[in-house]
Formats: sequence, C-alpha cells, structure tokens
Amino acid sequence: MLEIKSVDKSFGGLKAVNECSMLVNEGSITGLIGPNGAGKTTLFNLITGFYKPDQGEIQFQGERIEGLPPDRIFHKKVFRTFQITREFEQMTVLENLMIVPSSQIGEKIWNTWLRPRKVMEQEKELKEKALEVLDFVELMDLKNEYAGTLSGGQKKLLELAKSMMADPRLVLLDEPGAGVNPTLMRKLVGNIRKLCEKRGITFFLIEHDMNLVMNLCNPVIVMSEGKKLAEGKPEEIKKDENVLEAYLGGQYR
Ligand SMILES: Nc1ncnc2c1ncn2[C@@H]1O[C@H](COP(=O)(O)OP(=O)(O)O)[C@@H](O)[C@H]1O
Ligand SMILES: [Mg+2]
Repeated sequence: MLEIKSVDKSFGGLKAVNECSMLVNEGSITGLIGPNGAGKTTLFNLITGFYKPDQGEIQFQGERIEGLPPDRIFHKKVFRTFQITREFEQMTVLENLMIVPSSQIGEKIWNTWLRPRKVMEQEKELKEKALEVLDFVELMDLKNEYAGTLSGGQKKLLELAKSMMADPRLVLLDEPGAGVNPTLMRKLVGNIRKLCEKRGITFFLIEHDMNLVMNLCNPVIVMSEGKKLAEGKPEEIKKDENVLEAYLGGQYR
C-alpha cells in the first residue's frame, strides 16, 4: 500500500531521514519504533506532504506522492494525527468531527447564499456520519462537550474519530498512546483493531509504549539514525540483538 524508497531529508547538516526504505502492507497495523530523534515524525511528515524529500520516492497504492501538497495527499485518503493533538477547543466533539471533510461545500461563503439547501443537506449528512463515528468509537457521551475540556486520552480517541470522518485508507498515528490511561488505552487499541478488521483501514503508527506496540502491531519496524534497522513480528523484534543494542538498551532481555 505504501512504499518508501531510499528517501532522504536533511535539516541543515543533519540527516534526519537517511536512505530510508520500507513497506506498509494493505490491511496491516504496522508499528514504527525507535529512539528519540530517529526520524520517525519526519518520515510521517514526508509521507503526508508536510515536507518534501531531498531524494527518493514515496508510492501510495502504486502512485508517486512525494512532494505533493498535504491536501492532495489527504484527498488520496491518507490521514494523519499529530504527536500533539489538534482539536478545536472551543468547539464540541461533534463539531470537531463535522469540520473534518475538506471538500465541504459550506466552506465557501457564497454557497450558503446561492445553494443554501445543498449546504443544509450536506450538514445533515455530515452530522449523521459524525454520530455514527462517535457510536463506533464509543464517544457518544461526550458529543456535546467542548473538546478543550477532554482529558489527554479522550483527545487521542477524538483524533482517531476525526480520522474516520475522512474515510481513510491509510491512517498514520503519531504516538497515539502517549499520556493515555490504561482504560482509555484498551479502548484505543480495541478501536484501532476494529477499524482495521471491520473497515479495512491500514494503520502505520509511531509509538513509545512497548506494550501497545507488541500487542497491536505486526510487523514492527525499527528506525534508527534515519533508516530502517530491523523489521519483524513483535516477538522477533524483542529478541533482535541489533534492536536491543541500538534501542531497547537491554530492558527486554
Ligand atoms: N523542522 C525541523 N528542523 C530542524 N531539525 C528537525 C526538524 N524536524 C526534526 N528535526 C531533527 O531531525 C531529527 C529527527 O527528528 P524526528 O523525526 O522528530 O524524530 P523522532 O520522531 O523519531 O523522535 C532530530 O534530530 C530532530 O531534531
Ligand atoms: Mg516523533
């Protein structure tokens, strides 16, 4: 589904991503781990068009997407979340979901004058869809809460819900488990699995929480110093000598 071929990205003299190559298979929940500064977030920024690679190719479903602007990539049904969640605090949970689809006709002010019925119909559809998503991720109780009042974990679930509004094929999650309590973590893991199995969404996720990665992801890709160091089943990665040396520091030995 996603193929990264020998991609480079430097910031000044620093090679954040260095001849990096990897694959994400359709229908998988692929984990991306590695020490701080390994280049994981930069790689996500390259995939989603926030950065342009200095060199190399990125293919999504056989089409080259490197260097395209973020909105073009979003339209190809690639959705990403951020390490720091980006909700609109003064809007309710429901409203946060309803503003996700970027092709909303209501965005253009003249449409509300010229085609008010069309806009109203679309709002109704969006609302129905948002409610369906909230039901699916079991956040219905929070629909009228202001997003700014949610806990860190609830905001992470909202991010996942937002991704569903875009009918994505591929979702990139940057540290979805960071700051999430165990109860919400189970819910998050359950939802990601459910979305993968029932909706056929492919996930590519960066995560520091080893339990989450080892439970949820297969394969797990290890990134170090801008490139892929290892890839395998979670149990293989746990035993990989190079990974233990470079990253885990022996804590799983
Ligand atoms: N916009 C930027 N400008 C300058 N340096 C950056 C920028 N983004 C990332 N870096 C640097 O690139 C390296 C990789 O960062 P990052 O991709 O955030 O790593 P990770 O997500 O694996 O922790 C780090 O050394 C970081 O400081
Ligand atoms: Mg990061």
